Amino acid sequence: LNFLTPKTRAEIIDILITGLQRMEYRGYDSAGIAIDGSSEVDSPHSSVLLLRKAGKVSVLADSVKDVEGVKMDMQYNIHCGIAHTRWATHGSPKDVNSHPQRSSENNDFMVVHNGIITNYREIKEYLLKKGHTFESETDTEVIAKLTQHIHDRYPELSFRQLVETVIQQLEGAFALAFKSLRFPGQLVATRRGSPLLVGIKSNSRLESNHFPVSFSKGRRFVSTHATHIRQEDSSFVQTPNNVLDLSIGVRSQIGSAKLNLNESNNGIQSFESNDWEVEYFVASDASAIIEHTKQVLFLEDDDVAFVEDGALTIHRISRHAENDEQKREVQMLTMELQEIMKGSFKTFMQKEIFEQPDSVVNTMRGRLLPSGEVVLGGIKEFLPDIKRCRRLIMVACGTSFNSAIACRQILEELSELPVVVELASDFLDRQTPIFRDDVCIFISQSGETADTLMALRYCKPRGALTIGVTNTVGSSICRESHCGIHINAGPEIGVASTKAYTSQIIALLMFALTLSEDRISMMKRREEIIDALNKLPELIRDVLKLDDETRTIASKLYKEKSLLVMGRGFNFATCLEGALKIKELSYMHCEGILSGELKHGPLAMVDENLPICMVICRDHVYKKSLNALQQVVARHGAPIIIADTSVPQEDLAGMKHVLRVPKTVDCVQNILTVIPLQLMSYHIAELNGQNVDRPRNLAKSVTVE
Ligand code: G6P
Repeated sequence: LNFLTPKTRAEIIDILITGLQRMEYRGYDSAGIAIDGSSEVDSPHSSVLLLRKAGKVSVLADSVKDVEGVKMDMQYNIHCGIAHTRWATHGSPKDVNSHPQRSSENNDFMVVHNGIITNYREIKEYLLKKGHTFESETDTEVIAKLTQHIHDRYPELSFRQLVETVIQQLEGAFALAFKSLRFPGQLVATRRGSPLLVGIKSNSRLESNHFPVSFSKGRRFVSTHATHIRQEDSSFVQTPNNVLDLSIGVRSQIGSAKLNLNESNNGIQSFESNDWEVEYFVASDASAIIEHTKQVLFLEDDDVAFVEDGALTIHRISRHAENDEQKREVQMLTMELQEIMKGSFKTFMQKEIFEQPDSVVNTMRGRLLPSGEVVLGGIKEFLPDIKRCRRLIMVACGTSFNSAIACRQILEELSELPVVVELASDFLDRQTPIFRDDVCIFISQSGETADTLMALRYCKPRGALTIGVTNTVGSSICRESHCGIHINAGPEIGVASTKAYTSQIIALLMFALTLSEDRISMMKRREEIIDALNKLPELIRDVLKLDDETRTIASKLYKEKSLLVMGRGFNFATCLEGALKIKELSYMHCEGILSGELKHGPLAMVDENLPICMVICRDHVYKKSLNALQQVVARHGAPIIIADTSVPQEDLAGMKHVLRVPKTVDCVQNILTVIPLQLMSYHIAELNGQNVDRPRNLAKSVTVE
């Protein structure tokens, strides 16, 4: 921030906390803030006030009010503050794991981070060897500590150069904002794989053509400092050989703002605002800043934004200079706050359905290694015990139960163990016998579902090894199980689960892969599954293109009273989950039916009027699926078909509605077949005017038995 009219500390805190509240839908297990000044030394920039709290942003907001001795009316012309609301991926939600993460008790370097650093263990080991100590369990703390480490060795580096050196050592995904006691009033922000934007608020309106940001190719730049580090510690530093330094200029012809071309500074052109007010807001999503400015600049991977003395520069480290996007333009956002929180989507559920190409990547990130190895850090130590067990029991409710059904067969195949799937309530009702050599897996998006949690508490004292599979780090199921797999799908707001379901399937598939890693006879099978998982995001994007077609089908179905969804094999779970979505959202009677059971009852219902949907894929039950189709057609049924692209047209002759999804390996196929049903349930509910995000009578997390 850089102000013409000074702002008080209270106003600065208010901007940051309100920004966090706008972003709370992205994560809400803990929050933190770092601003200048503290109770001990209350001068403007000589110390930092760092507050971190587990819980909602309101907990942080309350604690800020309580800090004694900090003058809230202290005024600033220039100030940089950072804040963060967290959805834990490494380390449970507690104060010390909240961001900003810091390099030292002095708060010399602080960073907020969205994303996952996949090589944090190597960096941590290196820093531990160098004498650094760690206070948190987060992957993010290594970034702050590494920044300190490099700064101590190369104090001549500017804040921007320092951060550029740091990010060259990081693998994974990140959007980062740095603040430092050593560089007061300065901010560095950068991204790779996670979104980040800079909002520019000025007292003059900036037309985008008045404020172009363009790159001029700078000289070739091999980071000398990084090279030094590599010579000393080749263990973890991988300095890219051809780091091309592209600098950009931000020009303005407004007011008396000056274009400042500073040759000595790597040819960076920067924009200075000497006598007019400008504030910069860096955020991972526009919802945090939209009430301050609609002028934003979206950063690209490896852009490094630097604010110093009211000047914004964007510097670029590029490994693929030829393909580089050469322009960053300031764009005017046209959306309002409410819309931005949901992006261009009408509801959170729709957003979450369309997020699936990304959420599945987040589930796999850092776990499916290029070598073909599958590493699930949370269960690694327990793997030998898991492999020795006598049966695997998966316990869950609702959608999470369906994900267990989806993966039962592949778990049986790859582990060669008996696999049992249990609804938590029924499992408890029966007081099912559990033995010491059982492995019990508790699957729950929220990690708080009472039935599932009770089942965990039932199994543990009986000596079973317990594994939690949740989307919520630090949840009760996480804490109370022996070990676990986080599905990392990001917060799911819509009550009806969508992206968590597909991520649960992927987590369980990866679990099955880890159980078979030393079986030579299964090498081929494992390879084909890993290959399919790597290609999955693209295939999901293709399936999402069926949105319009599913809406057309929904418009024919939405007034119906009942719908049957039939399938078998790997796709039976799709039928259960598709039917659950339709029930939850549109209150229509809908049943998922195993087509193997068709002739044992459901066939009696079939006539020309009963709406039916059938899932038919070219897998090991293909012929049987076609038989079921014939039985339905023979009773004048006219089913809607969800089929993979390898099913020959002639086998589906006469079918009016065929939704085609790409073909993938059988045990991954159910991820692709469920998405059209997610879309269809969404459209049916919308056409019926139902509240899609909050269906009546249901709760996202059911914490009572
Ligand atoms: C509730 C929700 C469902 C969810 C089920 C299990 O019934 O409405 O959408 O599938 O709980 O929740 P969990 O958090 O344990 O996955």
